Amino acid sequence: MGKKLGLVSAAIALLVAGVIGGMKFAGDNRGTVIGDSSRYRVETTGGALTRSVGGSGAGAVHEVRNGDSIQAAVAVAQSGDVIKIFPGMYHETVYIDKDDIVLSGVVIDDAWPVMEGASKLNDAVLYSGNDITVENLQIQHYKGNAIMGQAGNNFLIRNNRIIDTGVYGIFPEFGTNGLVTHNVLSGIEDAAIYVGMCDNIHVSHNEVFNNVAGIEIENSRHSIVESNYAHDNTGGILVFITPGLPIKTTFDTIVRNNFIVNNNTPNFGIPGSTVAGIPAGTGILNMAGDQTTIEGNIITGNQVIGILITDHMNAPNVTLDPDADPNSDEISILDNMMWNNGYNTIPEITALKTLELVDGDVQILNIGNSSNSCILDHDKYVTVGLKDFGTCGFTTTAAVTTYLLEEPAERREIAAEDMGKRAYYGVCAGCHSYSIKMVGPPTQIIQALYADNPQGIVDYITSPTKKRDDYPEMPPQNYLSEEVRMAAAQFMLQVKK
Ligand code: HEC
Repeated sequence: MGKKLGLVSAAIALLVAGVIGGMKFAGDNRGTVIGDSSRYRVETTGGALTRSVGGSGAGAVHEVRNGDSIQAAVAVAQSGDVIKIFPGMYHETVYIDKDDIVLSGVVIDDAWPVMEGASKLNDAVLYSGNDITVENLQIQHYKGNAIMGQAGNNFLIRNNRIIDTGVYGIFPEFGTNGLVTHNVLSGIEDAAIYVGMCDNIHVSHNEVFNNVAGIEIENSRHSIVESNYAHDNTGGILVFITPGLPIKTTFDTIVRNNFIVNNNTPNFGIPGSTVAGIPAGTGILNMAGDQTTIEGNIITGNQVIGILITDHMNAPNVTLDPDADPNSDEISILDNMMWNNGYNTIPEITALKTLELVDGDVQILNIGNSSNSCILDHDKYVTVGLKDFGTCGFTTTAAVTTYLLEEPAERREIAAEDMGKRAYYGVCAGCHSYSIKMVGPPTQIIQALYADNPQGIVDYITSPTKKRDDYPEMPPQNYLSEEVRMAAAQFMLQVKK
């Protein structure tokens, strides 16, 4: 018991320090923070490693005030520059296609710069440059994404307030080395923080609530999700392989020291989307992710299940991908505090419980094959489907401070001819997969419809009309330049898988 209490108070201290400390990391094995508002470097204890993300802030400062356009400032900014956005209302989509830019809100006496999409605009901030910082912005009422990254490395997204911005909140895609920290997100229809096809990611000290999915690590490697507060979502923290995407693996994810509480919000996901299949009341969900370690979390009040581990075959709304391993392998469940989960579960779980002759509310469920998985203390929780889980040979991941890189990852440079590929995988593939129905119809079907007609695609995506009853409306892509829209259309017509 002493051990448990110790864990609770340590975790509470961590969270409180994280919230009150503002920009600081807390916790003794998390190292010290050095740097100023523009460059954020995390140095591990002992100073042996220095890791960096975000813009350098070494260049000029551009000030944007109420009534000005943020995009106009981005247009004249050069690498190294800082764009300071003063309190006011900004109705626009900002597209950053340069490297090393800091987009930094200035908060004065609790007056924030607010990006307001008025439920008309699709995206607030889209970046494709490397070494980008986006911080201190309140972003609300967009239809697509609040902050979406397309292929930028070394990103830093922190201290943003994101409210009801449509499908995703913070959505870095195809980035290496990125930190998402101290953001607060609510009202998102899919994942509030959605790390897609990335490597070396750190997601910490965020609060996510009233979303369908709180935090999702998808088709990504070497990620740490720690000290976040995920409450009142449909599902709290997800580690997924989503089939049909060009990158096929998720492995080496540490989910630790999070509060995962009361995630019972009815599912308001877009019908047919993967997250629309999450039962309302799920704490942690691992679907096909490998080498996921779950440690030191406080998981309580999730009515269906505390931790759910599943393969693709048993998950709803999922079509198998022949190139992706459908099983959740090498899962390690270390010491977590779990109580009062599974008290109002779904019939499928009740049936499995009855089969195994288990009494009580199920805290942890595994369904499907899972090789080389383990649990530290089998008897501590009511579990189903964990018969093949051995006892873990390690007790903590504390030695791993972060997977952020010591030095910034090399900038990803994109040749002009790769523009279409980048736009397709960075934007379109978020909703269109080659042969599988995702948010939008499969690319194969679009290829048949538009065979030699890329201009037809450009026209459609510039101002889409509703065509199919069983799909939502496609958001307009007119924030992409005409050239990029054409390149994406051409690539879409020739892509082969
Ligand atoms: C946020 C999700 C989303 C994104 C991003 C997206 N689409 Fe779509 N797309 C849809 C949906 C949903 C439909 C189906 C709309 C309907 O049938 O009413 C669709 C339909 C289409 C169609 C079929 C039009 C027709 O005549 O039937 C084309 C072509 C298309 N998208 C191209 C693209 C391209 C190119 C991109 C990238 C630049 C893209 N889409 C990005 C969701 C998306």
